[in-house]
Amino acid sequence: MLLVFGSVNLDIAFRADRLPAAGETVMGSGYLVSPGGKGANQAHAARLFGAPVTLAAAVGRDAFAEPALARLAAAGCELGTVQRLDAPTGCAGIVVDARGENQIVVAPGANLALCSHHVDDATLARAHTVLLQMETDPAQNTALLARARAAGCQTILNNAPARRLAPEVLALLDLLVVNETELAATLEGAGIQANDARTQVEKVEMLAGRFEMAVVLTLGAKGVLACAEGRVHEVASFPVDAVDTTGAGDTFTGVLAAARMEGQDWPQALRTAAAAAALACTKAGAQVAQPTRTEVNALLASSA
Ligand code: RIB
Repeated sequence: MLLVFGSVNLDIAFRADRLPAAGETVMGSGYLVSPGGKGANQAHAARLFGAPVTLAAAVGRDAFAEPALARLAAAGCELGTVQRLDAPTGCAGIVVDARGENQIVVAPGANLALCSHHVDDATLARAHTVLLQMETDPAQNTALLARARAAGCQTILNNAPARRLAPEVLALLDLLVVNETELAATLEGAGIQANDARTQVEKVEMLAGRFEMAVVLTLGAKGVLACAEGRVHEVASFPVDAVDTTGAGDTFTGVLAAARMEGQDWPQALRTAAAAAALACTKAGAQVAQPTRTEVNALLASSA
């Protein structure tokens, strides 16, 4: 089972020709209210791909909780560990421009009250892999990572939104997934000098080597770069007409975790996750835009 420990939000996404500048009001063309949150999005993506998924998360006792969780329940994610707390359900305000690029502000609410102890030992014992992001309390993430390591689980962290992670935290990981901003923050936190003369490959190799983990760097339309088990892998992106990139990184990470868990080797798993992320960009929204396994396999087959 894949245990995802992470955030649940309700996303309110506005479409506009361009993103507003500071102090500016722009007129939008419409809005979409749909389930989001990096943890929930990754759990949902992995479940659509076929993985058995348990989500450990926290929501409020308010009107946003049910719509934020409905799609996860419909997809068959196990939600028995989700806490209902006296805090507002997380909410994200998103603006998406005509090119599909976005800006996001998250009010985390109940997500920050999610604790490692909300996951009991029996649930952890059933987990093959534990997947976390950085929209919940970092100290609780570290506590759960330490328990997951002790329980013999594979550990994956998506350092999003970007944080400087202490070396002790990086030492608890089997796999780190980052974009370019998140890679820079991670290197800084680890105290690794990453001057600009170094290539991205060198930076990824350095981080992977120092902490004996796999590192996957997502580069948007430029594809994916990874260093795993001492080898470098480069995967091209799948060309699509991007409508909305919200949650594409979450789709990538969730499907990568699921693909690795079912035994796909690194090149195959990276390609599968890249295909899923590309498809997620072709529709508006986060979870509502995620592809099924059948759709992912069709894109992989058509581009083989
Ligand atoms: O990664 C996309 C997600 O970031 C959105 O769904 C939003 O809720 C924020 O958490």
